[in-house]
Amino acid sequence: MSGRLVGKTALITGAARGIGKAFALAYAREGARVAIADIDLPAAERCAAEVGAGAIAIALDVSSQDSIDSAVDACTNQVGGIDILVNNAALFDLAPIVEISRASYDRLFSVNVAGTLFTLQAVARSMIERGRGGKIINMASQAGRRGEALVGVYCATKAAVISITQSAGLDLIRHGINVNAIAPGVVEGEHWKGVDALFAKYENRQPGEKMRLVGEAVPFGRMGRAEDLTGMAVFLASAEADYIVAQTYNVDGGNWMN
Ligand SMILES: NC(=O)c1ccc[n+]([C@@H]2O[C@H](COP(=O)([O-])OP(=O)(O)OC[C@H]3O[C@@H](n4cnc5c(N)ncnc54)[C@H](O)[C@@H]3O)[C@@H](O)[C@H]2O)c1
Repeated sequence: MSGRLVGKTALITGAARGIGKAFALAYAREGARVAIADIDLPAAERCAAEVGAGAIAIALDVSSQDSIDSAVDACTNQVGGIDILVNNAALFDLAPIVEISRASYDRLFSVNVAGTLFTLQAVARSMIERGRGGKIINMASQAGRRGEALVGVYCATKAAVISITQSAGLDLIRHGINVNAIAPGVVEGEHWKGVDALFAKYENRQPGEKMRLVGEAVPFGRMGRAEDLTGMAVFLASAEADYIVAQTYNVDGGNWMN
């Protein structure tokens, strides 16, 4: 079999749908065995069946340490030691600053930030023990590059993901573990349907209007598709990225420059 990820095992969180699912399909095409870990197990099972190539589904709630530990064990036992981790699971919410609730803050930080950090930690420990290095890819966002009036909590979580990527990248490279991140812009899919509905409520817009406007504003000329991100995800998981450490790459059609 040919492919850039032959012989590798990849654990992808939140991979039952959307961007994570596109990554699972792309990694399998490159020869990796993929564990699709998601809080929605039936959807993860359907995704694994679609991916084929020995893909498995694992129940995972990244906001629970027990669940993270069991998922890492399950992946290691069922498909082998983890070579690649994609921290992709995340939640979104939207509210003006004066309406942000503690519950929303806690929910988003426990999934997007603690979920990313402690899944990374558990997998890094297993990678260090194995002694073969590895690749860890965190999903950031253009939302982590600057604040947005209605998106305070989500933006803060994604800024934290960029920061964790930098610290973990610097700490873990001595073990041969590359930690990097991808910052997408606006990507079509179920996630953005929910985002559009929230903007419709808070900006008094017609359903679909916000999505159309953000798509038109992308320099490339349209919203992103999950498949637009797979090239970067495969590259960062491959040996071609061995010398890339602690970086966050924008894949956003030109929305953000840094
Ligand atoms: N779609 C976009 O426009 C966009 C833009 C920038 C960044 N991102 C980021 O890309 C990633 C994927 O986004 P998407 O659009 O595919 O999202 P999505 O909402 O379509 O999928 C997220 C997946 O995560 C799972 N999930 C939710 N909570 C979980 C938990 N506690 N434990 C495990 N799994 C959980 C969900 O069941 C779902 O399958 C996220 O990190 C998101 O923040 C998305």
